[in-house]
Amino acid sequence: MSGITAPRGTFDILPEQAGPRAALEAAARELLEAAGYARIETPAFEATELFARGVGESTDIVQKEMYSFDDGGGRSLTLRPEGTAPVCRAYLQHGMHKLPQPVRLYYLSSFFRAERPQQGRYREFWQVGVEAIGSEDPALDAEVIVLLAALLRRVGVRGTRLRIGSLASPGTRAAYRDELAAYLHAHAERLAANVRERIDLNPLRAFDSDDPDTRAVMAGAPRLLDRLDASDAEHFATVRDLLDRAGLAYEVDPRLVRGIDYYTRTVFEFTSDALGAQSGVGGGGRYDGLIEVLGGPPTPGIGWAAGVERILLAAGEPAPSVRPVDLFVAYEERRGDAFATVVEARAAGLAAEMELAGRTLKGQLKHADRLGARYVAIVEPGAVRLRDRGAGTEESLERDAVVARVSAS
Ligand code: HAM
Repeated sequence: MSGITAPRGTFDILPEQAGPRAALEAAARELLEAAGYARIETPAFEATELFARGVGESTDIVQKEMYSFDDGGGRSLTLRPEGTAPVCRAYLQHGMHKLPQPVRLYYLSSFFRAERPQQGRYREFWQVGVEAIGSEDPALDAEVIVLLAALLRRVGVRGTRLRIGSLASPGTRAAYRDELAAYLHAHAERLAANVRERIDLNPLRAFDSDDPDTRAVMAGAPRLLDRLDASDAEHFATVRDLLDRAGLAYEVDPRLVRGIDYYTRTVFEFTSDALGAQSGVGGGGRYDGLIEVLGGPPTPGIGWAAGVERILLAAGEPAPSVRPVDLFVAYEERRGDAFATVVEARAAGLAAEMELAGRTLKGQLKHADRLGARYVAIVEPGAVRLRDRGAGTEESLERDAVVARVSAS
């Protein structure tokens, strides 16, 4: 095709794809609202500083994946790459600490990351996510994890696997980072170049490397899970115990690192083997220091986000759900009467359509067949012939009586 196409890594949501998305949205709304979560939506762009501070200067997201631009007045704005920092910004801005805690919020919005596009990885994508702010109770950790498992199950995501870990508190992690950095420096010659360059910037990311030599080095690296202090260890043990009580299977993964800096204590990730290389369906964790980083009082929080496109890919293709047409209004001359009939039918809650493409009467009847319309009203001077396509019958009615007749059937 010549002409303009959608940018690389973006996609149109065509009418036939809208049904499965609406079903996912309905399932999320039903499940999350029943658990006390209320919807929040924040702007598509924010001050760049929010993500630089919140997500972290050393992360891939901030270093190379943000769509940032000048607002024309010298202020840098960024298309949101994720939802947690914006929701925490909104929590602070609107004084939500005055509400009963924890404040439970959910969102279903699009996000933007300048990543290399491939199946399941896009530059604009959608996430359904929750944030529960204002409690450090480990039961809240277990609650959000169980909710994501329930959502994935309800929408038919197959082959899921849940991994959990703990990233400890900032003090413990800082000491561990130094220990890990020293270990990496001692084995620097066997590390991939991109890992070696980042030893001091972000040594934990070395666990993410696919390079075989780096992986061999990491197999012997000290583990944060073995360094948790008593209270972090107890928190993690309680979360595991509650997941056991909920009957949810998981694996403890001491190497689970997530690509965002705000995490503390519990982190988790759901993968699906119905997906290819981009197997992460959803993930999240605690961010007990984030609100303080954004200028608020110390306030704990936990949440997750799951990729809508990945959920739909992993759930497989459901049958398209197009609403059947109740009434197709055909006419030759009485266009105004046909229009009035459609307006009346729609006001009565019927799915109704009229002829709009200049077809002959014969063509219109064929089109009504194609639509699978239950009834066809042929508007003529003085009366309407109403055909029940299922029964194969036809009756003559006053125009005023058509909508009531179809509604009653
Ligand atoms: P995340 O792991 O960066 O976490 O993203 C969550 C999910 O969004 C991923 O598991 C994946 O399904 C989807 N996703 C991420 N990037 C892309 C992409 N380029 N294309 C398609 N899908 C993608 C967060 O965003 C955190 N805010 C989650 C969170 C909430 N943590 C605490 N609260």
